[in-house]
Amino acid sequence: MLVELLYCSVSVAYQITNVDLEHILDSARRRNLEEGITGVLLYYRGAFVQILEGSKESVENVYEKFIGPDLRHTALNKVHQNTIAHRSFSQWSMGFVGAPEIESRMPSTAIGILMNTLTDESKSKPLSLGLNAFVSIYNQMRKSPYK
Ligand SMILES: Cc1cc2nc3c(=O)[nH]c(=O)nc-3n(C[C@H](O)[C@H](O)[C@H](O)COP(=O)(O)O)c2cc1C
Repeated sequence: MLVELLYCSVSVAYQITNVDLEHILDSARRRNLEEGITGVLLYYRGAFVQILEGSKESVENVYEKFIGPDLRHTALNKVHQNTIAHRSFSQWSMGFVGAPEIESRMPSTAIGILMNTLTDESKSKPLSLGLNAFVSIYNQMRKSPYK
């Protein structure tokens, strides 16, 4: 059974560095490949938002055993979990979207094209509940960049 899980959390460090993010993504991607998990992580102004998709067993296992206990973030809030018919991020063991991408239109990056496609799709056809919530959080983040 394929599921998607969406959660938000708050980074513990006042300002997380690129090195911290690389460490998180390195181990996340390694394990996600082994577990058949795909998804995207957003990081903006101290907030993480992550969508994970994969088998129910793998997604719950990684969320509970590795993501939840990670001391680099706190205040985890599972926004949504549901079964899905197919993956939306099948090419991404864990895509990453940070402040530069959120504050620009990201025209040329692969993840930018993907997010633009998703946001366009969300206007015309119903997305899964989790994906819809993910796109709307992403849009809220994009609407209020620091000037
Ligand atoms: C914001 C955030 C997102 C994470 N996402 C994932 C993930 O998608 N998959 C995963 O296995 N671990 C994830 N983790 C957990 C860690 O990256 C890492 O797997 C865990 O600390 C254990 O790492 P190690 O086995 O390399 O020591 C995440 C942690 C944080 C703070």
